[in-house]
Amino acid sequence: MSRIVILTGAGISAESGIRTFRASDGLWEEHRIEDVATPEGFSRDPALVHEFYNARRAAARAAQPNAAHLALAKLEADPTHDVLIVTQNVDDLHERAGSQNVIHMHGSLFGALCHACGHRWPAPEVMSATDSCPACGRAATRPDIVWFGEMPYQMERIVAALEDADLFVSIGTSGNVYPAAGFVQGAAEAGVETLELNLEPSTGTRLFDTAHHGPATQIVPQWVRERLTRA
Ligand code: NAD
Ligand code: APR
Repeated sequence: MSRIVILTGAGISAESGIRTFRASDGLWEEHRIEDVATPEGFSRDPALVHEFYNARRAAARAAQPNAAHLALAKLEADPTHDVLIVTQNVDDLHERAGSQNVIHMHGSLFGALCHACGHRWPAPEVMSATDSCPACGRAATRPDIVWFGEMPYQMERIVAALEDADLFVSIGTSGNVYPAAGFVQGAAEAGVETLELNLEPSTGTRLFDTAHHGPATQIVPQWVRERLTRA
């Protein structure tokens, strides 16, 4: 049984039509991170933040999983592989492709959170600052998204899986945001083989044992085919 931990970023969903963050037409070209992806920005203007995530939720809903998402689901279904996907993405394309072992370390567009009482529930299509929490009734609802400066979800489980893996693969992420950007270092220090599959070299590409560059819909299915023929 091969234990593989796969980190994915915005790049794996790019060919499904979901914008990335740091490309020339990226989301951070149009919105200030401080305004829409920090707790401070949310307290200043919750309506602006809800508008930003409502648009991203609609875009994610309209998108379809691509060949890269489908290839990872096929790898997970193979009985000789134990696959865990750790995604920075907040879309649900991995799940819609059939992957079941997925951790959303930055949360999900399809979750709602009450920042007064901590209650969580499935997000409606459109959220607004006046929505009241179904548990405590206060108008304190936010998208269940991890913002800059906040702690990602399930870090203990992620670190334990990284240290116990046979292979760490990073797909479609620029390697600019910690702690995800530090996973390759942690894996290497634990003696785990590391592989980068990205459109172009990421910030941390030199830290990987091997790197293949090209569109995810080409290089990810290719890599999965090689894994499955070797199995
Ligand atoms: P941050 O500046 O607090 O950094 C997070 C951690 O990474 C800190 O421990 C910091 O010391 C470490 N770190 C930062 N830069 C580093 C570097 N160059 N080398 C080594 N360690 C470094 O937080 P941030 O960078 O503003 O954002 C990261 C946090 O925000 C993470 O928790 C991430 O999950 C979250 N986040 C969420 C989203 C989202 O859209 N959901 C987006 C970005 C970040
Ligand atoms: N195939 C493979 N990789 C691609 C493709 C593609 N078709 N298109 C883009 N990429 C790569 C880019 O080369 C880049 O390295 O995907 C990466 C996207 O980088 P970012 O836009 O920085 O997105 P990501 O790495 O996921 O950002 C990390 O930062 O702002 C936060 O919330 C955001 O969770 C995200 C985190």
